[in-house]
Amino acid sequence: MPTLRLVPASTSDYRALAEKRLPRNLFDYIDGGSYDEVTLRANVEDLRALSLKQRVMRDVSNIDTGIELFGQKWAMPVGLGPVGSGGMMARRGELQAVRAAEAMGIPFCLSTVAICSMEEVASVATRPFWFQLYMLRDRGHVAEMLDRAKAVGVNTLVFTVDLAVTGERYRDVRNGVAGGTSRLGRLRGGLVEYMLHPAWAYDVGLNGKPHTFGNLVKYVPKATSPNDFRGWASRQIDSSVTWKDIEWLRSIWPGNLLIKGVLSPEDAIAAADTGANAVVVSNHGGRQLDGVSSTIAMLPRVVDAVGARVAVLMDGGIRSGLDVAKVIASGAKAALMGRPWIWAIGARGEAGLSKLLQTFRGELRVAMALTGTRSIAEITPEIVERRM
Ligand code: FNR
Repeated sequence: MPTLRLVPASTSDYRALAEKRLPRNLFDYIDGGSYDEVTLRANVEDLRALSLKQRVMRDVSNIDTGIELFGQKWAMPVGLGPVGSGGMMARRGELQAVRAAEAMGIPFCLSTVAICSMEEVASVATRPFWFQLYMLRDRGHVAEMLDRAKAVGVNTLVFTVDLAVTGERYRDVRNGVAGGTSRLGRLRGGLVEYMLHPAWAYDVGLNGKPHTFGNLVKYVPKATSPNDFRGWASRQIDSSVTWKDIEWLRSIWPGNLLIKGVLSPEDAIAAADTGANAVVVSNHGGRQLDGVSSTIAMLPRVVDAVGARVAVLMDGGIRSGLDVAKVIASGAKAALMGRPWIWAIGARGEAGLSKLLQTFRGELRVAMALTGTRSIAEITPEIVERRM
């Protein structure tokens, strides 16, 4: 049981506050991984097991955490990765998140299965945001979504490739959220939990509607809750997709293309061969195949294989700016976070996320100063020592 702190300092403090505020089924949905959660833990623990190398007396009075990537300036090499159902954790959660990302000067990626639609996000965004795509069987819907994305100014598409089938998340089964659970289970997971969490129930349950997957409403018109979409999504997500389909995607998507969910050098080479601009080393935050390697363990091998051809990004287990320094030192151009941002908006909304992002940048600055690096380009493998 994590300690509950009213003045949150670290990612784990936001996690504890989110656990208190959110109904159990929602907290477990964001917090959990698949099966025994071995990979979920490995992502975090393997990053912890990397040591930073302390260096001193190097004039670190000017530290620049900024980068430029995909034609965009980032205040630090960290973006908010795609997270489905974000708007169930805070009122119109994706709007709060895009505003916090913009205030910090970092990219925000909207999930296919976000609560807020790309049009709604565009109505508050002042800069281009990213859109994440799952391949649907109906290619007409896919082409239309990409047209909509272009129309609202999205210039970077993140195509997720590690969800050919869905890994079972046992916490969702226990909470009655996953398919095939009893009515009693659903009642316990839904209504009772909502009553036990009145602040969330008022803010989001009552006033945060509609609770639909905004990007998909057009294609599933009768759906009124995330549950209504789940069955549809499990039928629509196309498990027959291969690298060949990316040729088609490339032909209709002129912007930046990132392939997310690559965990082996071989797949990274195949991804680079499609003409993608980047690969994201990811195991979906330990939510898909449990028992696969942590992302930080695989990152250097992927960088060796394709780092000279495409940008390599990584997500999974990143919980602080110190972790970001380790990820950059292991060869990534940038890191994405999933759970940290969603815990922060679940705990304290946009203000909480803004504060967490400042914390990440402060931690990164300290990591850079005390490893003797002044710019992101100076962060090299020299500053970490691998103990795994
Ligand atoms: C995700 N992730 C994800 N990825 C994606 O491409 N599309 C999506 O809709 C989602 N949805 C989603 C929901 C929740 C609740 C989580 C926690 C994650 C995966 C996500 O983008 C990212 O790969 C991981 O979250 C990274 O690991 P950490 O930062 O959560 O440890």
